[in-house]
Amino acid sequence: MPDNKEKYAQLQEAIAKHKGERGAVMPVLQEAMNIFGYVPQDVQEMIADGLGTTLSEVYGVSTFYSQFSLEPKGEHVIGVCLGTACYVKGSQKILDKLCEELKIEPGRTTADGKFSLNATRCLGACGLAPVMMIGEEVYGRLTPDQVPAILDKYRA
Ligand code: FES
Repeated sequence: MPDNKEKYAQLQEAIAKHKGERGAVMPVLQEAMNIFGYVPQDVQEMIADGLGTTLSEVYGVSTFYSQFSLEPKGEHVIGVCLGTACYVKGSQKILDKLCEELKIEPGRTTADGKFSLNATRCLGACGLAPVMMIGEEVYGRLTPDQVPAILDKYRA
């Protein structure tokens, strides 16, 4: 892993490479994601300064596209499938329960850095609907009342 100084140097290179291009914010944000894993505020500022644009433009692009994350990913990444098969079997209720338990919205990370919560497309396990994944682990045929006990395994 490169240290922070190196990461910022890589970011400066990416900015220099794309400076002057139309729509340069997008590829530079992509490179920032590769370098840092997320796009913190100081990185957004650097990109805005470097490309001669405003912070609000950089922020706008980074919040519009779900591939950009403004926070570091949690230790455990939860994906709840909102694909059709899971949706009709009530996956929205699973997602709602997770939001309630973790006290975050989808797309966010808990303050302690333990969990990130995402809504996803079909995970390819429709036979087990409704499905969620925590890391590489698949949980199927879920009901909302199973959610707290599953989370407890990861909280320990
Ligand atoms: S729709 Fe959820 S796994 Fe396919």
